[in-house]
Amino acid sequence: EGTASDGGTAGVGDIVHEGLRNLEYRGYDSAGVALVGETSGLTVAKRSGEVDNLTVPDVPDAALGVGHTRWSTHGPPTDANAHPHTDCVGDVAVVHNGIVENHETLKQELADHEFTSDTDTEVIPHLIEEELATDPGLGLLDAVRSVEDRLEGSYAICAVREGDDRIVVARRGSPLVLGRDDDATFVASDVTAFLEHTRDVTYLEDGDVAALSAEGVEIYADGDLVDRGVETVTWEADAAEKGGYEHYMRKEIHEQPEALRQTIAGRLDVDGGDVDLDVSFPPGFLADLEEIQIVACGTSNYAGRYAAQLFEELSGVRATVEIASEYEFGAGRSPDRTLVVAVTQSGETADTLGAVRRANAAGARTFAVTNTLGSTVTREVDDTAFIRAGPEIGVAATKTFASQVATLTMLAVAIGRERGALAAADARPVLEGLRDLPGAVQQVLDAEPKVREAANEYGDSEAFFFVGRQLGVPVALEGALKLKEISYDHAEGFAAGELKHGPLALVTPDTPVLAVLTDGSRADETMNNVTEAQTRGAPAIGCVSAGEEYATLDVSLPVPDVGLVEPLVANVYLQLFAYHVANDKGRSIDKPRNLAKSVTVE
Ligand code: G6P
Repeated sequence: EGTASDGGTAGVGDIVHEGLRNLEYRGYDSAGVALVGETSGLTVAKRSGEVDNLTVPDVPDAALGVGHTRWSTHGPPTDANAHPHTDCVGDVAVVHNGIVENHETLKQELADHEFTSDTDTEVIPHLIEEELATDPGLGLLDAVRSVEDRLEGSYAICAVREGDDRIVVARRGSPLVLGRDDDATFVASDVTAFLEHTRDVTYLEDGDVAALSAEGVEIYADGDLVDRGVETVTWEADAAEKGGYEHYMRKEIHEQPEALRQTIAGRLDVDGGDVDLDVSFPPGFLADLEEIQIVACGTSNYAGRYAAQLFEELSGVRATVEIASEYEFGAGRSPDRTLVVAVTQSGETADTLGAVRRANAAGARTFAVTNTLGSTVTREVDDTAFIRAGPEIGVAATKTFASQVATLTMLAVAIGRERGALAAADARPVLEGLRDLPGAVQQVLDAEPKVREAANEYGDSEAFFFVGRQLGVPVALEGALKLKEISYDHAEGFAAGELKHGPLALVTPDTPVLAVLTDGSRADETMNNVTEAQTRGAPAIGCVSAGEEYATLDVSLPVPDVGLVEPLVANVYLQLFAYHVANDKGRSIDKPRNLAKSVTVE
């Protein structure tokens, strides 16, 4: 997350450092600054660890500076991978959020440049250097504009150059906001960074490039000077940190389209029917693979349950899911033909690490799916795929569940393709579903008022039952878990077919049933079970594939058509339902009683 400031009387370095502290909740595995002064030139300082680990150099003549606190997506959190990144000459420094999808191609095109990090970001200062070398008359602004044309992906960048008294920024897909007070200009990924200096802000739009100086800002769109207007922020810092939402959980629910875009960025080859997760298994390993065992806890376990069905269907491999704390007896009949996949948002859950250690000891190949670069699990497994959801603060996992399932779906396709078990033509519709997933989730978020109404109406019930079949089962389990975690109400999820084998005894008009009635969840059969509950008086809320209709539902929530990931989209309704039930009851949503985000004891 970047912050930059230009001008002002307090030391520029201190202003930038303070801005980074304000942004630390968005990422905190490394931090750095670049300061530019008329005689001192460019000074860069960066290191891994928290923002307070960083000593900002004392540069009395610094007139402008940029800084960054990182949440890694490419390359572990080391000093070298921390931002800012510089060019070979050492006169350009860049901080960047988002992902440059074509960084490998660009790196090849920059063959004579020496790279010092594993990040995708580093291509940007080198491309700027190249532009400036080709045309020495070019200023930083023009150079950034030309470089932008070559970048693919979503990003926000801030660049500075020795001898240039302006900060140049560009936005495409990642947020950037400008601020102005009497003698300084600010830019950051989030207003929280500079709220103590000014509340007059300008939000950049996608495609905008801007040049900031102590005197003010010029914003360009398609080469033309534009006026983006000024808004006054009325939030307090605490609310601003949450993007104006009352809770991190609701903010994170709403961040899912962006998180999912990051998850799939540069990894899908829809036309070719393939996936690039940047992992390679030893020759012959996948061909001989007999079993995939998924180990995980809590929400990650439910993501694993979703994925297990996809591994069977798309990879043609038997897949089982174990609760990590129950994983005792080693890695199946032939450990050398077993892949153990640990799913863990934090990468630090003790139960999951214990299972990984047992799998390693048994001789299985181990694989982590996690949100956290540099976490313990990544050091203990053979391979890792990162879900790139960005930091999640709310204890109840939301966006990371979506990104876990999306990542595991890609892994299932990758393994299926490499084993020859999945034809490109059969992979394609799955990949199209993943590609359309962010937009589909956005449609559900736009329908929030309808779920809120349902939560208001049914929130005071005695208990809640969540049902589905097949891919709808893990979503039902997750829906119930979310509700019980944050509302403290009794909620239970199970396979719809099991309703009649026991739980039906608990069904009354005071126990609403929430059902997943989408593709991939045998909707018609599930609806039969829902009707059995309705006959006993239970109200029914259904998440239904768009275009389908079950007239008897009390509330029908439409799910856009995305095939096998439809139940994952339905889950967003269940997250919102849980949120609004809990919020109506005034619960401590971001920090539910007795629970912790990362449980590091067994
Ligand atoms: C804790 C959290 C849950 C989470 C589980 C697994 O119990 O409260 O939200 O699902 O740990 O965490 P992990 O980081 O391994 O995904």
